[in-house]
Amino acid sequence: MSVGLIHTTVLLHEAVEALQIKPQGIYVDGTFGRGGHSRLILQQLGEQGRLIALDKDPAAVAAARAITDPRFKLVHSGFENLGSVLSGLAVDKVDGVLLDLGVSSPQLDEAERGFSFRFDAPLDMRMDTSSGQTAAEWLATADESLLVEVIRDYGEDRFAKQIARALVAARKEQAILTTRQLSEVVAKVVRTREPGKNPATRTFQAIRIYINRELEELALVLPQCVGCLKPGGRLAVISFHSLEDRIVKRFMRDMAQGDKMPVSLPIRAADIPQGKLKLVGKAIQAGAEEVENNPRARSAVLRVAERMNGGRGDEGG
Ligand SMILES: C[S@@+](CC[C@H](N)C(=O)[O-])C[C@H]1O[C@@H](n2cnc3c(N)ncnc32)[C@H](O)[C@@H]1O
Repeated sequence: MSVGLIHTTVLLHEAVEALQIKPQGIYVDGTFGRGGHSRLILQQLGEQGRLIALDKDPAAVAAARAITDPRFKLVHSGFENLGSVLSGLAVDKVDGVLLDLGVSSPQLDEAERGFSFRFDAPLDMRMDTSSGQTAAEWLATADESLLVEVIRDYGEDRFAKQIARALVAARKEQAILTTRQLSEVVAKVVRTREPGKNPATRTFQAIRIYINRELEELALVLPQCVGCLKPGGRLAVISFHSLEDRIVKRFMRDMAQGDKMPVSLPIRAADIPQGKLKLVGKAIQAGAEEVENNPRARSAVLRVAERMNGGRGDEGG
């Protein structure tokens, strides 16, 4: 298990600052990873403060055992279960939620996890190795049309059709069980090389997003974050590609808009139902120095929003 491998936390200070930690507050780190953000949150909490962290990767859960702080609780769970995790802990509302999306460096750097074409290893790609289908299992049976859809929509690869066709032909000859087999099949049909990119980069990203249901789980957790935040509580989300960022951006924007009223209605501005969230500042990206030290930070975007008091639809939770 990749407990010992290092993850360099992206936007560490920016994300924790965005939460505006109250010493007695209750916070959620929905993506513990190796605990970079969690540790800084704990440093800023007082004795009565609490931090609840989640991760679906058993290796992250094992790494969290190093933190013996009584204010800290780690739950092995997908963040899409945030609401039920909090009720299980008898926590109603929290002061802030942080999500640092995607994969951790240890997941990418440990060959056996099967996330990377840099190593030859079994094609697994599950963040939660305790459940679900591996990439190899999925590739063995997925319809060609689904392969096209996944590689086109999640990998944004214009050779999606050719790659899907090649995968179906290749698996008739021999099961695709390893990262090397997958990258070799893809490399044969991707004719245009993007500078500095392995031709299989987009296919690997697409399959990883699909296997881990990354976009569905993000869409499921965001409303739960709003539901569990106290008024004034903060939601901070770091995303690493445009598919994730688009979901976060649209969600925050929609939640920040009050109900649209016809302009002709004789209603005072103060009586128009307000949104549940207020956007806080503009999207934040890593500075040049951070990107130089940690190339993974290059594509990171941090968006922050604050829970408003009341807000439309609050009656329904
Ligand atoms: C980018 S890393 C987080 C790194 C962390 N902030 C740190 O400083 O070490 C993302 C982590 O989120 C976890 N993760 C991704 N999707 C998840 C989900 N739906 N539920 C729970 N954990 C998830 C991954 O297993 C990974 O450990």
